[in-house]
Amino acid sequence: MKLPHHLTISDGHLHIGGHDCVALAEKYGTPLYVTSEDRICELFKNYQMALSGRYQKVQVLYAAKANGNLAVMRALAQMGAGADVFSSGELHMALGAGMRVEKLLFNGSSKTPDDLWLAVEKGVRVSVDSLDELHQLDAAAKAAGKVAKIAFRVNPALDVPTHPKIATGLATSKFGIPHTEIPAAYREALACSHVKPIGLHCHIGSQILAIEPFARAAQVMVRIAKELTGMGVKLEFIDLGGGLGIPYHHDTDPSPTPEDYAVKVVPIFKAGVEACGIAPELWVEPGRSLVADSTVLLTRVNSTKSAHKRFANVDAGFNLLIRPAMYDAYHELVVANKADAAVQMEYTVTGPICETGDILAADRKLPALAAGDIIAVLDAGAYGFAMSSQYNSRPRCPEVLIRGTEAALMRRGETVSDITTTMQRPPWQR
Ligand code: LLP
Repeated sequence: MKLPHHLTISDGHLHIGGHDCVALAEKYGTPLYVTSEDRICELFKNYQMALSGRYQKVQVLYAAKANGNLAVMRALAQMGAGADVFSSGELHMALGAGMRVEKLLFNGSSKTPDDLWLAVEKGVRVSVDSLDELHQLDAAAKAAGKVAKIAFRVNPALDVPTHPKIATGLATSKFGIPHTEIPAAYREALACSHVKPIGLHCHIGSQILAIEPFARAAQVMVRIAKELTGMGVKLEFIDLGGGLGIPYHHDTDPSPTPEDYAVKVVPIFKAGVEACGIAPELWVEPGRSLVADSTVLLTRVNSTKSAHKRFANVDAGFNLLIRPAMYDAYHELVVANKADAAVQMEYTVTGPICETGDILAADRKLPALAAGDIIAVLDAGAYGFAMSSQYNSRPRCPEVLIRGTEAALMRRGETVSDITTTMQRPPWQR
């Protein structure tokens, strides 16, 4: 199997950034998420270089939902990243990680009054999802004596090749304002006293392995930019969203790079804005493509069983990585302590959760497994820990960050008392 260069095999063990996964599992226990900070920084630099080599004013906003650990966000902040935040929590995290407020965009299709207040108070730009939200924000800004800078989230009505649950720019999706109604929305915003429309935003979906849909989205966006400019809107930024996919099937999936993206998309953007006579910043919001392959989830085989098929029962399930159960997602596996052993048998790797669907990987050819073996689930850095839960009262596992020769916890493992700590005894049970 092809491996990215930060994953290597030596002495029969899988290594990440030069660290032996088996030794990490022994030291910190399993299940365990291990993330390479160097890899994230490398991928961020690739984005920066690919885009800023082709257009002067570029801002890479990290989609914080993909992996919200503060250490990950801090590393990206130090590289100069901003963030797409989708909740007040993510906004606090981004600021706490040291990201500058002018590099943030507060997204969301269902913002609360508190979200809008916080956005106004912090002076963060808001991607407005409806006219109702526009007027609520205008009122909040007026009450605070401020002016909120906004974009509208465009629904470009584009069909994209990805799982339907993560296509976000379909005509039928819940996100944004239909592209045909966008000019009217800006007209309404221009008439508001405490809102200033200065941006335009879209996001067409996630895990998209072709570049062509992004090019189509860019075309829609510059066409709209032309119309808005004609109406007197002064666009300071256009955010084309995130969505670039990664090759979860290492040997067969296409592996589009930020360079491939920039080569096709930036010229459309540049020509489009030049035709409008404007020079807005170009923003993008990658999540997965910055963090997914930086991380392995190490899980221990508890037992094996031959029934109608051969099962390997491991200690991580959809409580820690829900993508296979939720999207039928595929993640490559490497048996970390038998990384160069011959592949001999077919296993279905199942988690410890009391659900039939708790399958991490079905029908995989692996070396013969025994209790105690450590399986590395690859590409677990995006929407992995971030979507974890405490289902079945399972404390969430720790996360380790590595950089160079150093390794350290970036999140300790939870205990059962972490699960019960927010629970309260109703008075009649005292
Ligand atoms: N910007 C917005 C407004 C988004 O909604 C998203 C992702 C992103 C940026 C980042 O997209 P990315 O570059 O990561 O594709 N949990 C799913 C993915 C959900 C994506 C939701 N929005 C999964 O595990 O595949």
